Amino acid sequence: MSSNEVLHSELSQNASEETKRQFAFMEKATAYVEELSKELGRKPTACVVTFGCQMNARDSEKLLGILKKIGYEEVESEDADFVIYNTCTVRDNADQRVYGRLGYVSGIKKKKPHMKIALCGCMMQEQSAIEKIQKSYRHVDLIFGTHNIFKFAELYCTMIESERMIIDIWKDTDQIVEDLPIARKYSFKSGINIMFGCNNFCTYCIVPYVRGRERSRNPKDIIREIEYLAEDGVKEIMLLGQNVNSYGKGLPESDQMSFAQLLEEVCKVEKIERVRFMTSHPKDLSDGLIEVIANNEKVARHIHLPLQSGSDEILKKMNRHYTKESFLALVDKIRTRIPDVSITTDIIVGFPYETDADVDDTIDVVKKAKFDNAFTFIYSKRTGTPAASWEQVPESVSKPNFDRLLKVVQETAKEQASRFTGQTHRVLVEDINEQDSSLVTGRMSNNTLVHFPGSADLIGNFADVSLDECHGFYYIGHMI
Ligand code: 5AD
Ligand code: SF4
Repeated sequence: MSSNEVLHSELSQNASEETKRQFAFMEKATAYVEELSKELGRKPTACVVTFGCQMNARDSEKLLGILKKIGYEEVESEDADFVIYNTCTVRDNADQRVYGRLGYVSGIKKKKPHMKIALCGCMMQEQSAIEKIQKSYRHVDLIFGTHNIFKFAELYCTMIESERMIIDIWKDTDQIVEDLPIARKYSFKSGINIMFGCNNFCTYCIVPYVRGRERSRNPKDIIREIEYLAEDGVKEIMLLGQNVNSYGKGLPESDQMSFAQLLEEVCKVEKIERVRFMTSHPKDLSDGLIEVIANNEKVARHIHLPLQSGSDEILKKMNRHYTKESFLALVDKIRTRIPDVSITTDIIVGFPYETDADVDDTIDVVKKAKFDNAFTFIYSKRTGTPAASWEQVPESVSKPNFDRLLKVVQETAKEQASRFTGQTHRVLVEDINEQDSSLVTGRMSNNTLVHFPGSADLIGNFADVSLDECHGFYYIGHMI
């Protein structure tokens, strides 16, 4: 689906100085794009390729907002006049995929000299990646990082004015620049950043190094943006942060607010019908938050609660600040208070020093917590993190452990999914079914996919659907 909505595409009246500066660059950039347009005899095209998480997806919407504002047409193909790769570096395979795309796109650029290529996102915050690109991927025109994405219009102008590769990477920032254009992928649902960065320093994780220190957006700015979205037809929002449960730290005294309070405020925005959030760190999930979810129908029945490991030894080495027992007690508390909630998780296998017995503990937690789904990853060594210098587990140990964990995860998820069979649930319709165009596809409050007979006019609307058959991860139903 292509972007169809542009948010805040005009300069808002109370915009900050930096926002005004960037709008001035957008004007300048518009003139450059007009020139290009005359040369090409058509509107130039832009393609943003996103790797990684929901945060990156939201950042890509910001890039597209500016690209559309300055006159580009969005396309899905990398055979475009301007291609931007918004990168991820959480695991090594994400890096490798980017290098693969850069190799591919260099072939296209050889035939199309006016083409521009940019790189941004988490991977660009790593010096080693920059050095490799400077050396081996000379066809890249612009590189920027996670902290200065708000400067995209300015950087675009610099790129057009220069023949050389432009590199602008900031180590960190405390700046949050509001009110820049955003082009949403969906007209009826949207992510919203509530905070940036992470202070947890889990020992395997590169995120705190590439996304910087934790900083929360002012609640007034968040609510203002959500009110705008609601007026613009958005019904479902997802509040985004690396650890939403620590929202609010560092806000001015007068704006102090916890995540539970923010969630309650967000639910008061009338036309917003469903509120999701991502991600919760188990060490900070408060009883107050559980109460807000339990008492508020608008909050989605879904908590993503990354376990990472079920072994106390490994959790300690990971710097996670909880134990197998306290994690299970938390899951129990959530399920007792919110019985219809889905709990999903992330698990890493093959962390340094992990033994078969540690993985037995992880499997035990999966069985007891009855996760509705789990994303399982093989540990990937990230240079610069503490765990990178520890004794690594060979693949001959991690791979069989990964396989046996995956088997239990799939069995548990399948059992869990079927618990709603025969019930009627509210589904937000997102698309026509890819395989069968007589069906539409939507999501229940707990994020489970449902396919049922229907037509395109249902997209973006809620429907009450009877869940007739469970097929592992999804349901086939019919509208009531
Ligand atoms: N190796 C493997 N998985 C990782 N994750 C984060 N860092 C790594 C790593 N170095 C996983 C965690 C996190 C998810 C987003 O990615 O499970 O929750
Ligand atoms: Fe990485 Fe841990 Fe922060 Fe999540 S909480 S982003 S796993 S450091």
